[in-house]
Amino acid sequence: MRTQYCGQVTESFIDQTVTVAGWVHRRRDHGGVIFIDLRDREGLVQIVVNPDTADIFEKAERLRAECVLQVTGKVIPRTEGTINPNMVTGKVELVATDIEVLSMAEPIPFQLDDKNISEEVRLKYRYIDLRRDEMQKTMMLRYKVTRTMRRYLDDQNFMDIETPMLTKSTPEGARDYLVPSRTHQNKSFALPQSPQLFKQLLMMSGFDRYYQITRCFRDEDLRADRQPEFTQLDIETSFMEEDAVMNLMEGLTKTIFKESIGVDFDYDFPRMAYSEAIQRFGIDRPDLRIDMELVDVADLLQEIDFKVFAAPAKDPKGRVAALRVPGGGKISRKEIDAYTKFVSIYGAKGLAYVKVNDLAAGIEGLQSPIVKFFPDQVMEIMRRVGAEDGDIVFFGADKAKIVNEALGALRVKIGEDLNMLKGEWKPVWVVDFPMFEADEKTARMTAIHHPFTQPKATTEEILNHDEPEQMLSKAYDLVINGLEVGGGSVRIHNSEMQAAVFKLLGISDEEAREKFGFLLDALKYGCPPHAGMAFGLDRLIMILGKIDSIRDVIAFPKTQSAACLLTAAPGLVDNSQLDDLGLRYKKPVLEQSK
Ligand code: AMO
Ligand code: AMP
Repeated sequence: MRTQYCGQVTESFIDQTVTVAGWVHRRRDHGGVIFIDLRDREGLVQIVVNPDTADIFEKAERLRAECVLQVTGKVIPRTEGTINPNMVTGKVELVATDIEVLSMAEPIPFQLDDKNISEEVRLKYRYIDLRRDEMQKTMMLRYKVTRTMRRYLDDQNFMDIETPMLTKSTPEGARDYLVPSRTHQNKSFALPQSPQLFKQLLMMSGFDRYYQITRCFRDEDLRADRQPEFTQLDIETSFMEEDAVMNLMEGLTKTIFKESIGVDFDYDFPRMAYSEAIQRFGIDRPDLRIDMELVDVADLLQEIDFKVFAAPAKDPKGRVAALRVPGGGKISRKEIDAYTKFVSIYGAKGLAYVKVNDLAAGIEGLQSPIVKFFPDQVMEIMRRVGAEDGDIVFFGADKAKIVNEALGALRVKIGEDLNMLKGEWKPVWVVDFPMFEADEKTARMTAIHHPFTQPKATTEEILNHDEPEQMLSKAYDLVINGLEVGGGSVRIHNSEMQAAVFKLLGISDEEAREKFGFLLDALKYGCPPHAGMAFGLDRLIMILGKIDSIRDVIAFPKTQSAACLLTAAPGLVDNSQLDDLGLRYKKPVLEQSK
């Protein structure tokens, strides 16, 4: 139906007759001549309809935005002064000799180039929203990235193998999406939170290099970078150590950056221990574009009278840290109040500060509601954080977890507010994660990565550890610009160690058998050492495309409340369907909604 994409009709077609097909992007009547910008996925071309071709002129007069046309015509150069340098096709126009209206369009709910359309409307009419240039580009970027992934992994001998969607719950830590079984009443499948256990079983099956670009499902609280169903590039390898897996995935990341956005990394990604990341940035996914760090000052403040600082300074689980903001002296009282409110989200009870007006004048040159409480220590603190005139230094004092989260988030917020982001791309591997952490409410141990990750300890040590929280694991995360792009680990490959980890996690033998018996068995019948990783594809696209919302990188995403506005899913179903599944509600569900 066409000889060319609209966006490809350039000077090289001058004097030729071409046929294009696409959507009416814009129609303008210019004193007897009608101009139509016709659009397809490759771009726009300007169509000219002259009144002397009366039959097609009449058709053109009735056209609305988003009608679908087939247009045949002759390509001619635009006259001087009408050339559009911003368009690939801006030097030519297509003089229509025939127009076929393939589909009329009713008035559309929003204009494609309107920047202020609500997200609700965009998602409801997603098929229109996706026609926008931005969305077309993002989808193309996404496709290019997966194409590169497949090619890179194919070249490295990886095999794409599918794993089940209807499966058993796996413990990635989120709530499961359940699918009640009709044939096994009262039992349910879970949609996979990741292919974790199946990919490990594939290693035991001899497929030593597996990959899959696959959907994962997690029923968790949604944020700007989380979706209930999202896509992973999932890989697993046998006979490869930690370093080899990280190098392989770093190579893939570099190839993706190069091929999709033309960015070259000519250095090895730095590696940072989890403990260092927390110490310096308060968070395990540091944004290294921001040149500010948390500095410990507790040792100087243990003996002062100001309880707010002295108590956490003495508490082994406490932390007192300073965050120097270069040039932050210009932050106003009102802004400080706003930042104080911001850190309170993370449980901080306040946000002490010192404005550095004139360091040479000593304590007199500092402006602060708190320095009066520790006049003898404050200059030493200023020296330690490297304060200069015109800076502000913020303080956090509390349980370490609160201080880390509050100042870690404040660092990023101020970095963005004051335009302190340096360099475009800052990747970093975070390694040496602790294996376990205590659940805040129950004090039970949980696995930070997942329970199949190998601890840096022997089975004996796992069973007899006094302080499991001190144990490290062979896990690694790839972080770019403060976003966790991917994570993986070396796995446990013998059943005794796996059983020991389950035990430490408080999973009874019986429960371990019920939930993971198949894994414990499989580990006994010849299991190669194996390791792997998963990239969050959606997050990677957000980074590459500099896109803030995960919903903008997915063709048909869910809202913050995990609904699809386009199809109105989830929806009510017939009672008979519920009956088949043995799910009986007190009131018939369909009637409840009436
Ligand atoms: P993990 O749970 O760290 O590891 O997930 C891997 C990556 O997936 C992305 N991700 C998400 N993206 C969007 N929405 C979500 N709700 C979401 N949750 C996670 C992140 C994350 O880094 N099986 C292990 C991997 C392994 O050990 O090989 C796993 O799933 O970018
Ligand atoms: P207060 O004595 O409670 O009025 O606090 C004096 C100053 O210390 C104020 O600027 C508070 O914002 C700040 N502050 C209070 N609690 C904390 C805390 N836990 N960490 C950091 N600063 C705090």
